[in-house]
Amino acid sequence: TKETFTPMVSALTFDLKAKCSTTRARAATLTLPHGKVQTPIYMPVATQASLKGLTPEQLEGLTCRLCLNNTYHLGLKPGQDVLDKIGGAHKLQGWDHNLLTDSGGFQMVSLLELAKVTEEGVRFLSPHDGTPMLLTPEHSISLQNSIGSDIIMQLDDVIATTSPDKARMEEAMYRSIRWLDRCIAAHAKPETQNLFCIIQGGLDPEMRKECCDEMVKRGTPGIAIGGLSGGEDKAAYCTVVSTCTERLPEDKPRYVMGVGYPEDLLVSVALGADMFDCVWATRTARFGNAITSQGLLKLRNANYANDTGPVDPECTCPICLPVGTPYPASGYFGEGMGITRAYIHHLAAKETAGAHLLTMHNVYYLLDMMTRARAAIVEDKYPQFMRKTFKGWYGKKE
Ligand code: GUN
Ligand code: ZN
Repeated sequence: TKETFTPMVSALTFDLKAKCSTTRARAATLTLPHGKVQTPIYMPVATQASLKGLTPEQLEGLTCRLCLNNTYHLGLKPGQDVLDKIGGAHKLQGWDHNLLTDSGGFQMVSLLELAKVTEEGVRFLSPHDGTPMLLTPEHSISLQNSIGSDIIMQLDDVIATTSPDKARMEEAMYRSIRWLDRCIAAHAKPETQNLFCIIQGGLDPEMRKECCDEMVKRGTPGIAIGGLSGGEDKAAYCTVVSTCTERLPEDKPRYVMGVGYPEDLLVSVALGADMFDCVWATRTARFGNAITSQGLLKLRNANYANDTGPVDPECTCPICLPVGTPYPASGYFGEGMGITRAYIHHLAAKETAGAHLLTMHNVYYLLDMMTRARAAIVEDKYPQFMRKTFKGWYGKKE
């Protein structure tokens, strides 16, 4: 591999504000082209430039200032021509805050059975008309340059961590490094868009270490840990995250992709990760499930039919706050809506409004959980915060 690298231009600053004295948790301010965000941070996923069921204004009203879009979906529709004419995805969705785009390869391989990875890129058949297409590192970056997202991701070769094929895992790790070099060379807008590398290497700590060292040398403005979005056991997951964070520079944001459940977010923060995205919170809302301070509530269950309490009595989101109580965040909401569990139960599976309301609550819950985690890190009380939160989720109920 190459040994000399030109320093990369960056369009972000990452200012560490506090570090936990007993874990690796950190609190920082990440300043991006569309404004500041506080880390650790949960980033909701708006695959099609929309969080299923929510308007961008509603997402803003929930305090979100950084969300995900997907290159693969936006590249197919509305397509690069339209994105160039409109002037990018911020304009398309009327979103004046930050956007992060995933590079597209991962989605293709996970969504399309016929996707095939070669050294050139990911070959697949168009889901619209079946024509053969090829997503190369250069094409992914070109699409992300047209989208204009504040953080763009390299194209990577991702293998499920549960795969037993070590040789293929090694090939994917080295290929991801080669593809990073092609992405850096193709990136036309480093002054306004931050390219993040993605560390691969399955569950093998030695492979992860080698990948970390090679990618860190390339000097991208931020660093992601990939290949961890499903199935591996918790101990192996923690070993991988910890192996990586131990070797990563302190002064750059660390993003664990596709993670995860609320407990995974808090554990990963303790291991030194800063950024997360996951579709689970929004997906489970559409199944009628609420993330709460008392654990996951399945509001379709019959016992909620007469429950006039809020979705989560400890939550300060506009869904849970009573009518007449001011909701402090600026934007769409002026006061609480006083939504009851009985109402969500009643709407479940019949009316889409139920899913929209629960999506808002779940997204707010995770955004707010990270805000509270950050405050605990700043006060150097993160382990206490974790214990208290886990006790609420899993402890004995009175
Ligand atoms: N989303 C979840 N995991 C991954 C990954 O390893 N790579 C990419 N590009 N996206 C992801
Ligand atoms: Zn709520």
